[in-house]
Amino acid sequence: MALLQSLSTPPVLLSLGVVGASAVYWGRKFFLGTYCPDHLKQGNLKGQVVLVTGASKGGIGYETVKALYLMGATVVMAVRDVSRSEKEKKELEIESESSTVKGQLIVMKVELDDLESVREFSKEFLSKFDRLDILVNNAGIGGMTGISKQGIEIAFSVNHLSHFLIVHYLRQLIIDTSIKYSKECKIINVSSMAHAYAKSLKFTKDEISMSDTSVNAYGQSKLCNVLFTKSLARQLENTKIGCYCLHPGAVNTNVFRHLPYYVSLVLNGLKWYFFKTPESGAQTQIYLALEKMEKLSSGSYYDDCKKANEYELSKSVELQDQLWNLSEELIKDFI
Ligand SMILES: NC(=O)c1ccc[n+]([C@@H]2O[C@H](COP(=O)([O-])OP(=O)(O)OC[C@H]3O[C@@H](n4cnc5c(N)ncnc54)[C@H](OP(=O)(O)O)[C@@H]3O)[C@@H](O)[C@H]2O)c1
Repeated sequence: MALLQSLSTPPVLLSLGVVGASAVYWGRKFFLGTYCPDHLKQGNLKGQVVLVTGASKGGIGYETVKALYLMGATVVMAVRDVSRSEKEKKELEIESESSTVKGQLIVMKVELDDLESVREFSKEFLSKFDRLDILVNNAGIGGMTGISKQGIEIAFSVNHLSHFLIVHYLRQLIIDTSIKYSKECKIINVSSMAHAYAKSLKFTKDEISMSDTSVNAYGQSKLCNVLFTKSLARQLENTKIGCYCLHPGAVNTNVFRHLPYYVSLVLNGLKWYFFKTPESGAQTQIYLALEKMEKLSSGSYYDDCKKANEYELSKSVELQDQLWNLSEELIKDFI
């Protein structure tokens, strides 16, 4: 009783309030994670072309677009809902009116669950642009089940295969850009720490040609992002093209909208405090886009703006080759 009375005096209550508020503030700062250093964001990307897939507002792709646009780059927002993104593009242009440096925003349509659409998008991109400096394969789905237009498991198709086809079409342009301008170019694949949860791999055409209702499907698609990055890095080893993959953190975006309602209920309670904002969640891919290759390690996996440990399985060259061969087989009618 005496202890309670002494704790409820105004000075003690005030001190407890200050300590509590500081803990909440520093805790929130901790969960927001590391930001890309300012000196990298002060560079100028004028004349450079950047392509970001999945650039809808509310996601980390949009924040990546915004950061690179405000450094002067021409940024292509590859999205499926063009009219929504045209509005979001206008809003961003208006919002940035007072910025001294800014580039250009271009919205292009792509349906990543349809390889035909990916082929059309890639061909249109090649007809419109004569360089590509940074490719961010960002779009992704989670918690969705089903198959793509071509009858391939949906997470594998949207998160990996569509980006494999985009790279098939655009890699020569990236190589040419790097040679012509004697500069470093980047291919960045947005993976997830969920790649480590991929337990049973479905790496034959028959296995991947059906819906997978298990949580394994997302993990496998994100493991594919890591395996694909490592294959690309090996193939481009003696070039000025850096290939990276990353985990953006747990970020409060729209990616969770397809999860069952009871999972969303739990997540909603946690998101406001423990999750990164879309802006802070985009920092690792922005960092990888801007940092010099000598300070990075091509083929590696990053988290919170630094190199992190990937799942052992993703280091298997045999598995990397197996995925490459399967992906080539699956896209062969679209090249
Ligand atoms: N948020 C996280 O905690 C977290 C954690 C680890 C990894 N990631 C990865 O981060 C990346 C970005 O996700 P996010 O969190 O920013 O989620 P998001 O807000 O849902 O963004 C995903 C983007 O992908 C697009 N997309 C999805 N399916 C598509 C399709 N079939 N065709 C064309 N575009 C399609 C979405 O377009 P619509 O807006 O039209 O749907 C959206 O623009 C994903 O690869 C995700 O796996 C996120």
